[in-house]
Amino acid sequence: MIELQGIVQTYLGPTGPVEALRGVNLKVPRGGIFGVIGRSGAGKSSLVRTINLLNRPVAGQVRVDGQELTQLAEPALRAARRDIGMIFQHFNLLDSRTVFGNVALPLELAGVPSAEIGRRVDSLLDLVGLSALRDRHPAHISGGQKQRVGIARALACKPKVLLSDEATSALDPETTRAILGLLRQINRDFGLTIVLITHQMQVIKQVADQVAVIDAGRIVEQGAVIDVFTRPAHETTRSLIDEILPQALPDSVLARIRGFMAAHPADQGCLLRLAFAGDDADRPLLSDVIRRFGLDLNIVHGQIDEIQGRPFGSLAVHVRGAAERIAAAVAHLRGAGVLVREQELGHA
Ligand SMILES: Nc1ncnc2c1ncn2[C@@H]1O[C@H](COP(=O)(O)OP(=O)(O)O)[C@@H](O)[C@H]1O
Ligand SMILES: [Mg+2]
Repeated sequence: MIELQGIVQTYLGPTGPVEALRGVNLKVPRGGIFGVIGRSGAGKSSLVRTINLLNRPVAGQVRVDGQELTQLAEPALRAARRDIGMIFQHFNLLDSRTVFGNVALPLELAGVPSAEIGRRVDSLLDLVGLSALRDRHPAHISGGQKQRVGIARALACKPKVLLSDEATSALDPETTRAILGLLRQINRDFGLTIVLITHQMQVIKQVADQVAVIDAGRIVEQGAVIDVFTRPAHETTRSLIDEILPQALPDSVLARIRGFMAAHPADQGCLLRLAFAGDDADRPLLSDVIRRFGLDLNIVHGQIDEIQGRPFGSLAVHVRGAAERIAAAVAHLRGAGVLVREQELGHA
């Protein structure tokens, strides 16, 4: 649906040129929610604003729905932009207009007859749950409601693509969940392709199908969300995931295991970290291991979460038994798709 090729963006900063995008290639498939995550300054806004050419790159091609936007002259580009809606962190509503008036604006600009505007805006406000607030001004509604207005406005011209630049970053977690739920519903109901820019892994985890990680103007990793969460390859990805799913074990856990091992020199066992995702997580793998390999197994730490209804998580288990049986159990778990590694215990 969207194809970026060799995108380079350079700004003139106070101390010289700033390379915001250093050759970005990205393919966003039709009909999904595609997340782009990165830290502040990574180039996310530059990237998303390239998709509708709000920011014209110094090099590279932008193709949206088969049209090469970088080749279009101004009138054709304006028409193409109507197929691309956008929502923003700070909503960008007009304070002087009512809720209704804000949603109506793009339709007025597109020359839609006023009776048709009335009908369309009413149905959009119904969709985002704001019918009762249609005559309020932005100053008198909450942040979540403002973003609902932003979403209704972005959908007014029936776009094929919706771009979201940190649309939930100014909202509390509860409101964020509600807005992301609304975006998911719109994605499903209208088959709208959504590109969602964020610095929060929580947002990616809740709603994205695929994710690309941007770091210093480059895409450093991408894939299905569940794969990236379970097998992050790049350091930036790991540290972003770590914020919601810490990988390091608490010192207290390590100290307890060290204490046990010191007290049982003949039967220390080992501490294993298991990471699993998707369907494996539903199988009774651990009780399997205990039964089949006759091991003693103690879960000392763990987190189990969900990505779009699929369980994923990590466990730390202290395993005791004969070394060759532990090795066989590890092989069995790996064969079942669980990532297994031995945890270093370090020193007190
Ligand atoms: N208009 C601009 N002029 C100069 N530098 C800019 C401009 N916009 C962005 N930058 C710089 O480009 C880099 C990427 O910015 P941006 O795309 O806004 O990142 P993000 O949205 O990930 O925080 C940053 O170093 C930023 O300071
Ligand atoms: Mg930004």
